[in-house]
Amino acid sequence: MVPVNIHDFRELARRRLPKIFFDYIDGGSFEEETMRANRSDFARFGLRQTVLVEPRPQDLSTSYLGRRHPLPFMLGPVGFLGLYSGGGEEKAARAAHAAGIAFCLSTFSIASLADLRAVTDGPLDFQLYVLEDRSLCEEFLAAAEQAGVDTLFVTVDTAITGIRERDVRNGFRSLTRVTPGLLARLALKPRWLADVALRGMPSVRAIEHRPEFGRGALEQAANLSRRIDNTLSWKDIAWLRERWTGKLVVKGVLAPKDAVKARDLGCDGVVISNHGGRQLDGASSTIGALPAIRAAVGPDFCLLLDGGIRRGTDILKAVGLGADGVLLGRAYAYGLAAAGQGGVAEVIAILTKEISISLALMGISSVDELKALRGSAIQASHPSG
Ligand SMILES: Cc1cc2nc3c(=O)[nH]c(=O)nc-3n(C[C@H](O)[C@H](O)[C@H](O)COP(=O)(O)O)c2cc1C
Repeated sequence: MVPVNIHDFRELARRRLPKIFFDYIDGGSFEEETMRANRSDFARFGLRQTVLVEPRPQDLSTSYLGRRHPLPFMLGPVGFLGLYSGGGEEKAARAAHAAGIAFCLSTFSIASLADLRAVTDGPLDFQLYVLEDRSLCEEFLAAAEQAGVDTLFVTVDTAITGIRERDVRNGFRSLTRVTPGLLARLALKPRWLADVALRGMPSVRAIEHRPEFGRGALEQAANLSRRIDNTLSWKDIAWLRERWTGKLVVKGVLAPKDAVKARDLGCDGVVISNHGGRQLDGASSTIGALPAIRAAVGPDFCLLLDGGIRRGTDILKAVGLGADGVLLGRAYAYGLAAAGQGGVAEVIAILTKEISISLALMGISSVDELKALRGSAIQASHPSG
């Protein structure tokens, strides 16, 4: 199959990955209602078609977090990219940087920030899970400073991990080492095996020197998740604000009052996110939450959004409703799993083309013009009485 859209990349990822990893990427928590709502709620909003506008040069660049970005989307933090494709973090970062967009490395990564800096000098961000052991947080922050990280995304919606039933069925959560049974299941996907496993046992590079986390990515991951600080509160955000001198963004906000609180504490922005429907099932979709949050924080505070982005039109709807930019999650993870760096590059190219065509059909010449229209380019998808 030649992939023509993100859904095709999802299907290719399904074919190429061992089921245990595909389900980990693809699944959500409990009934997966919020995960589905992230997608289906985009259909509540439509884009206003405008015709016969004098053609003007198109400009898809826009500003947020103090920088000009060539496109209104970036690659957000997705854990364990190196398990979906060998050198996955490096491949995703390279593809992002070839398109000029930012890449945000997850705390839960095979590659470290230093590994990425060895292969690319493009814009790098870092996503922090605050761990009980603050000395390790300090190490992460020092590594981020060293790597010239621009923006720190602190993820706040995972104090407790939601139950993802596909993972429970597959035994994903209890995996700490490669057993003969697991090996037999992995061997069903020889292309994946050759790419990832035959490079040697992957390991979380940032904590390799900490023997208490064990050996090998699976055991280290289990230990890392257990040590996420589940007492995290606004006090810790205030501490981080003091400690981190770069841009600070709180990821995982859905309530207007939480966005206002982040703004008032001096954070530079929030990501409106429900972790891709992987945490509180029943939480609102992110696109549904956006208009009230924009109204609450005012026009100037940076709002990013993720969740269910699979189309260029999703990105236009988010920006049209007040997001300054958008983060991709599964969309690029599917591309990576399906076809490595080229797959991520293709996902970026497809979304760029979809944005470009749709914006032109809306009679709008630039992403900044869409922003300036402040919602008037967006309509209810079935305007009636
Ligand atoms: C496989 C997977 C791993 C993820 N790992 C992280 C992570 O390590 N840190 C984080 O802040 N968010 C993580 N997320 C959440 C994403 O950053 C993002 O919020 C979510 O994927 C957006 O929804 P979408 O995938 O439907 O676009 C992960 C999501 C997926 C699917």
